[in-house]
Amino acid sequence: MLTPKKEYKKITTNSLQEMKQNGEKISMLTAYDYTLAKIVDGAGIDIILVGDSASNVMAGHETTLPITLNEIIYHASSVVRAINRCLVVVDMPFGSYQGNSKEALFNAVRIMKETGGHSVKLEGGSEIIESIERILTAGIPVMGHLGLTPQSIYKFGTYTVRAKEEEEAEKLIADARLLEKTGCFAIVLEKVPAKLAKKVAESVSIPIIGIGAGPNVDGQVLVLHDMLGMTHEFNPRFLRRYLNLFKDITRAVKSYVSDVKSNDFPNEKEQY
Ligand code: KIV
Repeated sequence: MLTPKKEYKKITTNSLQEMKQNGEKISMLTAYDYTLAKIVDGAGIDIILVGDSASNVMAGHETTLPITLNEIIYHASSVVRAINRCLVVVDMPFGSYQGNSKEALFNAVRIMKETGGHSVKLEGGSEIIESIERILTAGIPVMGHLGLTPQSIYKFGTYTVRAKEEEEAEKLIADARLLEKTGCFAIVLEKVPAKLAKKVAESVSIPIIGIGAGPNVDGQVLVLHDMLGMTHEFNPRFLRRYLNLFKDITRAVKSYVSDVKSNDFPNEKEQY
């Protein structure tokens, strides 16, 4: 196991900046509930993202669009009660920040007040810059999200790799620079060619956290339920599974059903 270059008792946005400067990679995973967040934080993750992927993973929706502000606040406050060390980033749900920067600020303040989270994440570049600027005026740290932005799935039409063409790649680099200049503390870069991701990471001084963006960025993020192998139907190339919990949990539940049916559970020691 690789030892970190510096021990951090608590991760802040400054620690992440320092990690980029020192060439230490940043680790980030999603979590949506108390129990798993406690394990993930205890295992030494740098950032927990309370992602709007909860819409898929926790609620079974096809896209991230249906999750509401109240639902994300419920998930985020459960996560915050569990953590000691990591930085908690909370996704702003679709419709809570686009178009009206005053509403964006109001909603970001609700997230900070009602969850105890440390920062918010918004998808997009120049189109949402007014909302980002206004949220930052309240002292709320903002993480950007470029490349594949799942809240825009109906505009893209597919979840395939973004910015393969020159024009989109140039806009992406310009957006990354704009987010940095505006004051974002980091950017998630999703599903873009590795070569472009490297260029983006070299073009800005804030950390670039990749998902499906290759190794030459400042950190990596995965959806927890995917890397634990709970969601066995989702198999993108970028996903590394560290467990096959789908198989293990299925086996455990089958054993339990069988033990109950056969009257093997509970036994003499498992009763009062
Ligand atoms: O909601 C989420 O899980 C995300 C990650 C894919 C970065 O935004």
